[in-house]
Amino acid sequence: MTELRKARIGYQGKTEVVPIKVPDGEPAVWDADSSLNVVGRSVPRLDGAAKVRGEARYTYDISLPGMLYARMLRSPHPHARIVSVDTRRAAALPGVKAIVTFESADFFSRLGETDESGKPVEEARKPGEQAKNRTVLFAGEEVAAVAATTLDIAEDALELIDVRYEPLPHVVDTELAIRPDAPPALPGGNLPAPAVHEEGSVDEGFRQADVVVEGTYTTPVALHNALETHGAVARWEGARLTMWASTQGVFGFRDEVAKFFNIPVDSVRVVSDYLGGGFGAKFGAGVMGVVPAILARKAGAPVKLMLDRQEENLATGNRPDSVQWIKIGAKKDGTLTAIHLKSHGTGGIAGGAGVSGPVRMIYACPNIRTEEQDVMTNAGFSMPFRAPGFPQGSFALESALDEIGDRLGLDPLELRRKNYREAPAKGLLLQYELAAKEIGWERRRPPRASAGIHLRGMGLGTAVWGMYGGPPADATVRIHPDGRVECLCGTQDNGTGTRTAMAMITAEVLGIRPEQVSVVLGDTATGQFSPASGGSVTLTSILPAIRAAAEGARGKLLQAAAPALGAKAEDLDIRDGRIVARAGRSITLAQAAARLKSALISAQASRAENYPDRGGECWGAQFAEVEVDTATGRVRVIKIAAAHDAGRTINKLTAESQVCGGVIMGLSYALLEQRIMDANTGHVMNPNLEDYKIAGMMEMPEIVPILVDVHDPANNVGVKGLGEPPVVPTAAAIANAVSNALGVRVRDLPITPDRVLALLGKVREA
Ligand code: MOS
Repeated sequence: MTELRKARIGYQGKTEVVPIKVPDGEPAVWDADSSLNVVGRSVPRLDGAAKVRGEARYTYDISLPGMLYARMLRSPHPHARIVSVDTRRAAALPGVKAIVTFESADFFSRLGETDESGKPVEEARKPGEQAKNRTVLFAGEEVAAVAATTLDIAEDALELIDVRYEPLPHVVDTELAIRPDAPPALPGGNLPAPAVHEEGSVDEGFRQADVVVEGTYTTPVALHNALETHGAVARWEGARLTMWASTQGVFGFRDEVAKFFNIPVDSVRVVSDYLGGGFGAKFGAGVMGVVPAILARKAGAPVKLMLDRQEENLATGNRPDSVQWIKIGAKKDGTLTAIHLKSHGTGGIAGGAGVSGPVRMIYACPNIRTEEQDVMTNAGFSMPFRAPGFPQGSFALESALDEIGDRLGLDPLELRRKNYREAPAKGLLLQYELAAKEIGWERRRPPRASAGIHLRGMGLGTAVWGMYGGPPADATVRIHPDGRVECLCGTQDNGTGTRTAMAMITAEVLGIRPEQVSVVLGDTATGQFSPASGGSVTLTSILPAIRAAAEGARGKLLQAAAPALGAKAEDLDIRDGRIVARAGRSITLAQAAARLKSALISAQASRAENYPDRGGECWGAQFAEVEVDTATGRVRVIKIAAAHDAGRTINKLTAESQVCGGVIMGLSYALLEQRIMDANTGHVMNPNLEDYKIAGMMEMPEIVPILVDVHDPANNVGVKGLGEPPVVPTAAAIANAVSNALGVRVRDLPITPDRVLALLGKVREA
């Protein structure tokens, strides 16, 4: 059941009061009128000191008595049938305690099993089922694993495993794989059914257009490269399994492992105290999650398996590449009449390569058609990667829009404003304004207006991401007799500051400081369910549950305090850690908690449904200024102004940090990153951080994050996601700035010096 309440929605300078439908039992909704003490401030990460002191325990840091170390044997072939595996010599090596191979039927399925449609089977296989005719589908795919007393012995043992392969024809190149004569990368072929989407009629839209541009844009396969690689530590105690895992979802990891061993989920505990990033590649247990548990059971000892960087970059996920043909039609005044996008790309042996999100979500255009084709290749499977599909799609769309602007002599920002997609309580126009002001957009000149060796240019891009948070998520807040406050939620902290946000909400409700809250997270044993931390859903899902739990605890605390203060509970307030009566008398939290008949106050709450029709998307605008060195072809990004909304900002400091992180990752994608495959051998040529370039301090521009609170509460906190939006438009903004500097359009990412020099050659020819 829901009740109708009033809330003030909107943003600075533009608000209105509207009725909102709120599920029964929800606390008073925080809206634009709410004045909060803790939420919205800049609070340094509560675990910051522990991290810099090296006290924070990551999965990599876990060390247990008697623990063994595991290493994986990986296929050197991009496509092959495994004829036989002989582990006898390896097993005889002193120190080797357990070996598992694909043949022992314990192995996970991503290793080449497909269903009837040719789609890889990602379900766990039940123990005892035999793999027949097993093939490996990419170079780097898991074939066997060894646990030994030291890492070196495990490494040596891999060389003693004799595997006979029968190589099969392979294809790793997207363009080669779409040819009719290409060898099938998978039994189901290389071209699954395309995804087609149409609104209105693009044919009609192009008939109405005064100007039409079309072009083909390409983006590379990019690798997640979270600082901490994938891995886990497994320990069995009888039939109970505990795993410390580098995962974005402890509950999903637990469920997958429990299913694999066919044991109840409550026999498995998964802990992720600290996580060194995931970016989408750490959902589920996967091979590297299940293998240490198999080895630990066989060896009768705990087993640790952490991947090295090369393995990480071969077999744990990637952002698919794309080839995007886009055609856009507009009226003379810039009003869009049609957008037609045709794309294809590869996510290797599994995973979608769709890129149409930005085309379908950002601008108002009545006629849109998108056709997206996944291409299967003998390369590591893709995984979601920070706003899957969006940086790719944004690059093509925003570039094509600027091309329209150049043709019509329209300022890119004017063109965006012209095609603004109206929505309630949407702060994008303000974000454009603030970011444009910050970058000094009035200084922008027509294409190739600057002269000399160093050419300057400016460009912009728009960010969009859906609001995907919601139930289920549970939380418990406890107040101990000594006044200590605990907040428990099973969720994991990807490194974004989840702990601190949990403490801030609890502190806000209980009238204390965030540092006074002990946060317990990253543990299925909390019994407090949380979704995986992906899709920018973490805070949006868990904070409303935490707030409701804290409100419950507060109510109980005030009931306990009321007699001592000679007042009714509803007349009490909590300020600065003291419960205060109207008359001015007060007692501490500990004094109130000590009066309890129970050992502690404990209140649990579950995340309510999202309020209907509220929330909207997460928007943002990024403006870039670049300088291109025409002698070397090197692009230097000078400044990026990034305005974003996360609904209500919870922690200004970590939210700004989140925006900067997105910009850094987007810049790296724009200028440097690309996985290189060798078509002949089928190998990744740069699965390391020497040859796979990632932006470092030298590449960093001035980054100015601008948070625009946009109140349109779909939950009791009014928070929306911020993990993904900041990476969406960065590459597009930089590419547009480079195009503006050069006077010729950038069509390929990354924008490397050789490509810039080639573009300059085009300018000279023209
Ligand atoms: Mo993300 S790609 O939802 O971690």
